[in-house]
Amino acid sequence: MTCASVPRTRLGWKRGIWTVALSLLVLAACGGSNDAAEANKIRTDAEATARRATEKLTGTLMGEVQKSIKERGLAGTVTHCSNRAQELSTLVGAEEGVVIRRVTEKTRNPVDAPDVFERRVLAHFAQLAQRGEIDASTAYVEVVREDDREMLRFLKPITIKKPCLGCHGPSTSLADDVRQAIHEQYPSDLATGYSEGDLRGAVSVSVPLGED
Ligand code: HEC
Repeated sequence: MTCASVPRTRLGWKRGIWTVALSLLVLAACGGSNDAAEANKIRTDAEATARRATEKLTGTLMGEVQKSIKERGLAGTVTHCSNRAQELSTLVGAEEGVVIRRVTEKTRNPVDAPDVFERRVLAHFAQLAQRGEIDASTAYVEVVREDDREMLRFLKPITIKKPCLGCHGPSTSLADDVRQAIHEQYPSDLATGYSEGDLRGAVSVSVPLGED
């Protein structure tokens, strides 16, 4: 072994270490960005599912309510369709693999009361509504960990339009038979007194992310 060969060997050893370190770094970086891309895709897909489920529920419900009003009138619709919104929510939820429901602070059906997360988002929507900043594109999306599972939570505001007033307008403005039907089906009803454009509540969708 010559004197000159010692540093050369050392250099080779060092170069080897650097090569390994660099490869690991590149691998980690690529692996990392793959994971990030994968997580991003799962989130984007989940949000698309939440939006699709929301459209499906509101569209179907609206269609059925309009048809029923034509056939049975407002009071008849309250009586005959009282469980339909809940049934449809369960159905759409099963079809899309999500939990979907309508929530509000002023419930007609007490099962539509919000959980802690939904209450916070409803308060946020109420602030937006006060500033006149709610439009068709308004929604809230957050990924949360619940019961050791990642969930995408999606909420979209529901506002009052003219056709809603027959059943959600000021109590004194409701037709007698409608007020009576509501009182019979929903004795603890809080969902009257609204005007056109008011925030009524939200559609709330929870989409499980992954299987952990
Ligand atoms: C024919 C009467 C009628 C009309 C018209 C009507 N609703 Fe309702 N609404 C009800 C009844 C009855 C319930 C309770 C449904 C249930 O038991 O799940 C309800 C419940 C709701 C809920 C769920 C929260 C809660 O209080 O339980 C929302 C949100 C809602 N209505 C919004 C609207 C909007 C927005 C419109 C107009 C596009 C509308 N409704 C039109 C009768 C009506």
